[in-house]
Amino acid sequence: MSVRLSNGIEIPIEMHKVRIVQKTTLPPVRERLRAIEGAGYNTFLLRTRDLFLDMLTDSGTNAMSDNQLAAMMVADDAYAGSESFYKLEAAVQDVFGMKYLLPTHQGRAAEHLLAKVFVKPGDVVPMNYHFTTTRAHFELAGGKVLELFTDEALNADSTCLFKGNLDLDKFSATIEKYGAGKVSFIRMECTTNLLGGQPFSMENLRGVRKIATAHGIPVVIDGSLVSENAYFIKQREDGYQDKSILEIMQEMMSLADICYLSGRKSCSVRGGFISTNNAEYYHTLRNWLPVYEGFATYGGMSTKEIEAMAVGVREMTELDVAGSSADGVKYFVTRLKEEGVPVVTPPGGLACHVDAKRFLPHIGSFGYPAGALSAAIYLVSGIRSMERGTISMDRDEHGKELASDLELSRLAVPRRVYTMSHFEYATDRIAWLYKHRELVKGLKFVEEPPVLRFFFGRLEPLERWSECLAQAFEKDFGPCA
Ligand code: F0G
Repeated sequence: MSVRLSNGIEIPIEMHKVRIVQKTTLPPVRERLRAIEGAGYNTFLLRTRDLFLDMLTDSGTNAMSDNQLAAMMVADDAYAGSESFYKLEAAVQDVFGMKYLLPTHQGRAAEHLLAKVFVKPGDVVPMNYHFTTTRAHFELAGGKVLELFTDEALNADSTCLFKGNLDLDKFSATIEKYGAGKVSFIRMECTTNLLGGQPFSMENLRGVRKIATAHGIPVVIDGSLVSENAYFIKQREDGYQDKSILEIMQEMMSLADICYLSGRKSCSVRGGFISTNNAEYYHTLRNWLPVYEGFATYGGMSTKEIEAMAVGVREMTELDVAGSSADGVKYFVTRLKEEGVPVVTPPGGLACHVDAKRFLPHIGSFGYPAGALSAAIYLVSGIRSMERGTISMDRDEHGKELASDLELSRLAVPRRVYTMSHFEYATDRIAWLYKHRELVKGLKFVEEPPVLRFFFGRLEPLERWSECLAQAFEKDFGPCA
């Protein structure tokens, strides 16, 4: 939630008390230079001890509630028939209005099962935008991912409130071109992660449903940030201001055949699930669950996490939980914009996205501007962000590099973890970097894995720019900062 102060400034307001904390330290700039070199200029390869603020992701890093922690203590550790599972099943039925539940160890495991059952070689899988693991699973199954986003989606500096909308004309044209039988399903991702956490509108989802129904195509929602998407619908779409997050989520679910999600994000735990009202889908998917995940009442999750998830599913419908990350992102984006730093607008869910194409226009796609920017942000602040650009794209089947539509450094705002002073510190250091942006040059791969290369790939800086940047930083802030 946010409040407007008497001076007119809007600030995020925490509707909770902090009662357990984790200490963090700020290693000085020379140590950070050593750490980022040791990590091959890949922020995934940094260790927690090297970080001041970890804004890599909100995945598995949201703050849990006291009630979630309490629930973990009463977990029922049974291989089959665990009571913890039935609590989660009841929560999903109440909140999502979906009868059948398949727990999975995390979101990508749900994608793997969906790929196994629905995606046949030669199929196409249309969606509002891909996520890295989504594309990997659907393509490994022989499908082709089609991104049917609207023209505005790639405009990083926009006022369009629903950049996550699917282009309905493109959807109809896709069905015409390939035939409905070749479309595995239509996937709608809640707050399109790689577009900068941008939501879709209810009106758009209704349009998708109508076309899909007319052609017998299942509608699959990736609900990894479903409560955030509902929060944006409440704030931005006519007719929803007076509806609760629960009502909005239930309306979204009434338009879907399947909802899967990463519980690491939306439920503030470590797990995932698939839910549906369709008995046939459920039974077909369930056949594969013990092969890849585990028995149907734990699906690869620990029963402690299942208990916490049962609470998390209900808590994500609370306004302050659904809006906690979004309001932090809004404040952070507003502050960076005030300092002239190019950021993705309007502010979306999950993270503040710095636009590396505009920040480092002198670096082309294959010099990896977003990767260089993430490394530079770490060097000047001790803050870990994530590259979401060309490094996050794997090569095509001919081994050719693919330039990403967007080049973003993502500074995640996990729910209820960081405070305004953290956002102010981050803004200050990133604004300093922006003033010294000409010092940052590109990166090149020295070790490049064949799949999801952004996880373990190692790179090095062109023209030793990191040394020059560290020197400039030391000159302004001293060796201890
Ligand atoms: N779908 C979306 C939209 C996601 O954002 C993620 C994960 C997944 C699926 C996969 O879920 O990680 O539980 O297996 N996003 C994380 C992130 C990794 O950092 O944004 P998972």
